[in-house]
Amino acid sequence: MKIISSIEELRDQLRGQLRTVFVPTMGNLHEGHLSLMRLARKHGDPIVASIFVNRLQFGPNEDFDKYPRTFQADVEKLEKEGVYVLFAPTEKDLYPEPQEFRVNPPDGIGNILEGEFRPGFFTGVTTVVLKLFACVQPRVAVFGKKDYQQLMIVRNMSKQFALPTEIIAAETWRADDGLALSSRNMYLSEAERAEAPALFRTLNEVANEVRGGHLDVFALEHEAMDRLSKRGWKPDYISIRKRVDLQPPAAGDIAQSEPLVVVAAAKLGGTRLIDNLEI
Ligand code: PAF
Repeated sequence: MKIISSIEELRDQLRGQLRTVFVPTMGNLHEGHLSLMRLARKHGDPIVASIFVNRLQFGPNEDFDKYPRTFQADVEKLEKEGVYVLFAPTEKDLYPEPQEFRVNPPDGIGNILEGEFRPGFFTGVTTVVLKLFACVQPRVAVFGKKDYQQLMIVRNMSKQFALPTEIIAAETWRADDGLALSSRNMYLSEAERAEAPALFRTLNEVANEVRGGHLDVFALEHEAMDRLSKRGWKPDYISIRKRVDLQPPAAGDIAQSEPLVVVAAAKLGGTRLIDNLEI
C-alpha cells in the first residue's frame, strides 16, 4: 500500500485509473470501516482510502483535539484489506490556504437533525468530501448508513453537481449487543459502554410500534426520549422521518407505507452517540 500525503503525488499515482473506488475516513479504523473497504472491493479497483481529521466539520466546543488518532494501527488494517493507496494529507496539504470556498447544503436537509445540533457540521463535511473527490477522482465512493444524513447529503451533492462519482451505502456495523461501531465509542466508560446498546434497543422499540400500526409519531418520539432520559441519557432527538428526504412524515404517509427511518442522537455522559434504523 502506498501512503501519500501530497495531492500532486496522489494524482500521479492514480493517473489513468478509471474504476477507482474511494472510502474517506477520519481514521481510528474499526470493523465498521473495514466493512466499507470490503464493500468497496466489489465496486471497483483500485481501492483508495483516506484518513483526514477534518477540522472544518468540528464545532468550537467539539472533540477535534482529542479525536482518536491511531495512524500506525490504521495502516496495518488497511494493508490487510488490500487498499492500494492511503491518502493521508496533512492540514497544509489539503488546506494550504484558508478554505474560503465552501459547499453549503440546502437548509431543508442541512439544518435539520444533526445540522440543527451541530451547526456548520455538514458544510464542513461536504466541503472536504468535494475536495477529496477532486483529489482522488473516484468513480465510486462508499459511505456508511450509520451517518444516515451525511450519506443523503453527500449523495444529493454528487447528483446536483453532476459529479462522476456514484455513492454506495454500506450497512451499519454493530457489536454483538447492538451498539453501532463508532470511533467515539472509545470515550465511553465501562458502565456507559454497558448502557450504550439502549439507544439501538429504543430505536427497535419505536420501529416495532410503527410496524405494529401505531401512527402517533409525535407520541412515539416523546415516549422514546423520555425512556432514555430516565436511564440517564440526554437525547437531542429521536425522530421518525421519511427515508427519501428525512422530512417528518405527513399524516397518512405511514398508513400508505412510505419508507421510513428512525434517527437518534443522544448524549451518554460526555459522549454523543448517533444511530438510526430503517423501518
Ligand atoms: O464520516 C466521516 O468519517 C467523515 O465525516 C468524512 C466523510 C470522512 C468526512 O470528513
